[in-house]
Amino acid sequence: MSASYDLVIRGGTVVTASDTVRADVAVSGESVVAVGKDLPAGAREIDATGRLVMPGGVDPHCHIEQMTAAGLVNADTFETATVSAAFGGTTTVIPFAAQHVGLNLRQVVADYKALAARGAVVDYALHMIIADATPETVASDIPAMVEAEGIGSIKMFMTYDRLKVDDERFLDVLLAARQSGALVCVHAENHGMISWMSRKLVEKGFVAPKYHAMSHPRLAETEAFTRLIAMSELIDQPIMIFHVSTAEGAAVIREARGRGVKVFAETCPHYLILTAEDVDLPGLEGAKRMFSPPARSASDHGALWRALGLGDLQVVSSDHAPFRFDETGKLRAGPSATFKQIGNGMPGLESRLPLMFDAMVSQGGMGLQKFVELTATNPARIYNLARKGSIAVGGDADIAIWDPDCSVTFSDATVRDAAGYTPYPGRTVRGWPQTVLVRGTTVIADGVLAVKPGFGRYLPRAGGEAARPTGHLVREVDPHRNFGATLL
Ligand code: URP
Ligand code: ZN
Ligand code: ZN
Repeated sequence: MSASYDLVIRGGTVVTASDTVRADVAVSGESVVAVGKDLPAGAREIDATGRLVMPGGVDPHCHIEQMTAAGLVNADTFETATVSAAFGGTTTVIPFAAQHVGLNLRQVVADYKALAARGAVVDYALHMIIADATPETVASDIPAMVEAEGIGSIKMFMTYDRLKVDDERFLDVLLAARQSGALVCVHAENHGMISWMSRKLVEKGFVAPKYHAMSHPRLAETEAFTRLIAMSELIDQPIMIFHVSTAEGAAVIREARGRGVKVFAETCPHYLILTAEDVDLPGLEGAKRMFSPPARSASDHGALWRALGLGDLQVVSSDHAPFRFDETGKLRAGPSATFKQIGNGMPGLESRLPLMFDAMVSQGGMGLQKFVELTATNPARIYNLARKGSIAVGGDADIAIWDPDCSVTFSDATVRDAAGYTPYPGRTVRGWPQTVLVRGTTVIADGVLAVKPGFGRYLPRAGGEAARPTGHLVREVDPHRNFGATLL
């Protein structure tokens, strides 16, 4: 008898953002072709009895092989980063093509695409970082990169000396994004407050990694979110606010969404797990948990969970930004480095889903569907990756088969990215993906990588629905109410 499908994943519990059902999943070619009970035989079968069959994760914010704000390249290559992502159940990533000041955006995009094509083992799209909003970048390069290269999102920084874009240029880029149909993602913190606090702390000898957390006042987040939302409203350009860390930040977003501003927002596992006290470690050890914005407090954790539950925040990304804890990375400035001389960021591609599964499903009450929604479906929808983020007939067969009872204790000895350490040593999570498929091909089978570097495929995309303006213009830019001046 000939097989009806290339593959049937049989007898598992299939979870999507809307349903949890006992069903088989059939795959032919690269797509899911049927979901149902007692499906006919596949040429290959995977027994998923007792397992959860879930969409592969979509991680829409990760720094891979990127030149960062500190002038340091991340520890990972596209190969090591995406292998670690796959082992943690993530099948699509959106890293960055990072334009620094003086660089030509088209060349930057070509360079990062080449790096990714060589190494990636899962599928990937790109965001473009704009640090140098020259007239040529704004008028010609951004539209070309959206249209010809399928980069449907732009990232800008409101802080970091090398990357920050001032408000006037920021508005130029928001308008270019509006005209090109791209979403704008933002690292929003008040640069002056952070620079001033850092200078004062260092001058007075408060230089340990824990003072990095104090150098980023929570007010810097609230102020920047408020200013950013005002700029977004002026241009009527939808935005995604990256890595929300405070209760007040979440409240600013809730208020803006409540009055109809098109603001999306994400947080990351570390803002739900770590506090500033966790950075207070002997010597420079705290550098392993230095990232920006920094870890806050337990009451922020509660507020961020509520904001995720309510839909004020829609996405949990990793903000994977790995540096080794040695002279090539975090400790580049030597053993007496101040927090200002230590690279920001930490690894997270592999741990994102297991940490969230443990918190939301194994320990918590938010449940499987919300877990899938925040970590796969919402990022796929918001970033316009139509075939990703769910298990649906016609979609890509990107599937992670989880053992919900598999307990794993994080340890430096077992991390798979190139940072070489885990920020969560000794922490045990319950639930881990055992088998991971990308477009129907097994990428991870029972702890073994089964594809070669370069298997991952580039996902060109437009900005999509999330990037579509609301059509509501404030008076000063509305030609019907501003005495006829056409500005947008
Ligand atoms: O500390 C972080 N998040 N480093 C990565 C760069 C950024 O801020 O997104
Ligand atoms: Zn950032
Ligand atoms: Zn980041």
